Amino acid sequence: MEHGDPASSTDFPALKNDTFLKAAWGEVTDYVPVWCMRQAGRYLPEFRETRATQDFFTTCRTPAICCELTLQPLRRFPLDAAIIFSDILVIPQALGMEVTMVPGKGPTFPEPLNEPVDLQKLNENVDVTQKLAYVFQAITLTRHKLKGEVPLIGFSGAPWTLMAYMIEGGGSKTMSKAKRWLYQYPLACHKLLKILTNVIIDYLVGQVSAGAQALQVFESHAGHLGYEQFSEFSLPYLREIAQQVKEKLKASGIDQVPMIVFAKDAHYALEDISDSGYEVVGLDWTIRPKIAREKTGRKVTLQGNMDPCALYAPKDKINEIVKKMIEEFGTQRYIANLGHGMYPDMDPEHVATFVESVHTYSREKCKNE
Ligand code: CP3
Repeated sequence: MEHGDPASSTDFPALKNDTFLKAAWGEVTDYVPVWCMRQAGRYLPEFRETRATQDFFTTCRTPAICCELTLQPLRRFPLDAAIIFSDILVIPQALGMEVTMVPGKGPTFPEPLNEPVDLQKLNENVDVTQKLAYVFQAITLTRHKLKGEVPLIGFSGAPWTLMAYMIEGGGSKTMSKAKRWLYQYPLACHKLLKILTNVIIDYLVGQVSAGAQALQVFESHAGHLGYEQFSEFSLPYLREIAQQVKEKLKASGIDQVPMIVFAKDAHYALEDISDSGYEVVGLDWTIRPKIAREKTGRKVTLQGNMDPCALYAPKDKINEIVKKMIEEFGTQRYIANLGHGMYPDMDPEHVATFVESVHTYSREKCKNE
């Protein structure tokens, strides 16, 4: 591509709103920054319209559409960060597995991993950064189109969550197939988790080279593990990812970016998570902010954690919930978000209320502090 082509040039416009990055690094902010998990999603009519013509993973492989979907929520709400539109399951695809998005059912693997011998089917030596170059192109393009308005977050699934999908073949209430592996084939599990970890590290470093200004690692299925299994099958890999990404960025002379870990339903390990090398710890809505602060001290920034279903509440109630949430978290070392992704039947106007409420209330509180 020619020099100056927005899809390839990494000479990006200057950042105008760095409140999210400051909060992530633990610097003082004059209000609480806010973004929402799944902010680019089906609750937006313009998202449904853009997505209608193409299948989900074709959309993921089309940088211009990923860019458009990423920008849509920012045109409506004064969010403090954008998150690139993509999916965590592009990694199993890059490793050679087929994954389709079945409407009404969700992600589906026609041939999941059934037994350890199936690990041989994975192209473990694949150059994922080349296979996933379409994500990097989407990131670079989006950085340009954002015009420096807010920072762009890149992301990946964490090893255990990806492994669980690859074995279950889709969503599951019990994760019993993946958990059976943990008990019957611990060595094969570590082998698979290690393959995924290596790929994730390169993938995240590639996202930063392409223009991502922060990274979030989603361990969405942490809640299915107890403390012992989390300590053995998740935490060491989460640590390695944080450590290696930072090391590789340094070795390549690329500026560091803050890293966020979101291990859903893993409060049983919150102390360990807050000491695993990430600047920000994402929280689901089931933990009290006060308790989370007690367990993590002041070493990390916390992110979260309004129940996404609170967006169904009347606007006054949303204001009240936000106020209480900010009282409990405090205004510093804090990024407001939902405790998980939004649902398709949520009202965009209530998202607007949530965002506005975080800004208004936190500005007021910061002034009085
Ligand atoms: O947050 C954002 O706005 C960025 C985009 C994003 C998507 N998926 C887009 C998406 C992110 C960060 C993800 C991550 C992701 N994908 C996770 C981790 C976060 C979490 O929810 O715990 C997981 C587990 C997946 C796998 C996945 N992809 C699921 C379970 C689904 C929902 C399936 C369904 O039918 O509801 C998806 C599809 C998906 N990914 C959608 C979006 C906006 C909706 C489907 C569509 O657009 O057709």
